[in-house]
Amino acid sequence: MKTRIVYAPEREDLVAAAQCLRSGGLVAFPTETVYGLGGNGLDPLAAKKIYEAKGRPSDNPLILHLYEPEEAEKYAYTCPLYYKLAMAFMPGPLTVILPKKPCVPKEVTGGLDTVALRVPSHRVARALLQETGLPIAAPSANTSGRPSPTLVKYVIEDLDGKVDMILDGGPCDIGLESTIVLLEGNSMKLLRPGGITPEMLAPLCDGLYFDPCLERPMKEGEHPLAPGMKYRHYAPKAQVVMLEGEEGPILDFLRSVKDQEGVGILCKEDRMAELEGKYTFSLGSDLGEEARLLFSRLRAFDELPEVRTIYAPVPRREGIGLAVYNRLAKAAGFTVKKL
Ligand code: TXA
Ligand code: MG
Repeated sequence: MKTRIVYAPEREDLVAAAQCLRSGGLVAFPTETVYGLGGNGLDPLAAKKIYEAKGRPSDNPLILHLYEPEEAEKYAYTCPLYYKLAMAFMPGPLTVILPKKPCVPKEVTGGLDTVALRVPSHRVARALLQETGLPIAAPSANTSGRPSPTLVKYVIEDLDGKVDMILDGGPCDIGLESTIVLLEGNSMKLLRPGGITPEMLAPLCDGLYFDPCLERPMKEGEHPLAPGMKYRHYAPKAQVVMLEGEEGPILDFLRSVKDQEGVGILCKEDRMAELEGKYTFSLGSDLGEEARLLFSRLRAFDELPEVRTIYAPVPRREGIGLAVYNRLAKAAGFTVKKL
């Protein structure tokens, strides 16, 4: 298949992309979290094509992207808590799981009787949704098993020749996939941490519970509530090792290994000078930048087969730091070195 790649899409490109989606095609597009691989969310065949293009198991449900929060009524049984969240955080990086209505094909929900809904805020995503007039089913636009793409070049790497169109929208603002919550009455369960943080969610509900699979490896026979979280999604080719402990001992350790063969390092910008080495990469100066940069750094290491071990200090688990921790921990297969 010849893929049409559009840099800085204009109105006529969005009209063409919407037409492509309506006639069953696939369009990769930017969102504020990561790039998505979109298809018509009401078309079982489009869902099948998405799974094929990604090389993803079809029991892993897709998120339906909507233009307006109120459209949820068409596809799901909503509740007061949904509207509270919608008022506070939509459009934005929040996905809500609700019981689905019959019009949503089971191919989209991986056979579940619930559906994941999200209203993205990126202007290209919004323009495409408005123009299409459909819910767009979209997983992250990576080949299954690679880090989610935060730049169009990574989408091209993974999907060129497998989708009809790729729309560019610059670097993604947040850089990690949306927060996912499952609503249960006036409480909710956090299934995947992201840009809408526990600190932001907790005041709006009676109780916020965490899927235990977020912070430790799954036990035999255990299943996370979001089926996709069971896959070792974010696995780079090298072994990632998280370093836990006081700053001093971590720095001493990194200084001692930085020139060793096969070692890569991810560290804060202000440590770059003292940890300078061939394979030392910066994760920026705050948690927001860590989120934005993490996936592209992991992809960069994949281009360096000589790097066999990547050391990264454990991020602070507050705000979006919990999401950074969760993705890094998954990339590391929860391997931690205590110092
Ligand atoms: O930020 C994002 O959410 C991006 C952009 C493109 O919007 N999309 C994304 O999709 O990350 P994907 O398919 O890579 O991740 C969707 C996650 C998976 O872990 C899936 O198992 C979970 O959402 N999910 C979808 N529907 C679900 C449902 N009904 N119940 C529980 N988990 C669900
Ligand atoms: Mg994904």
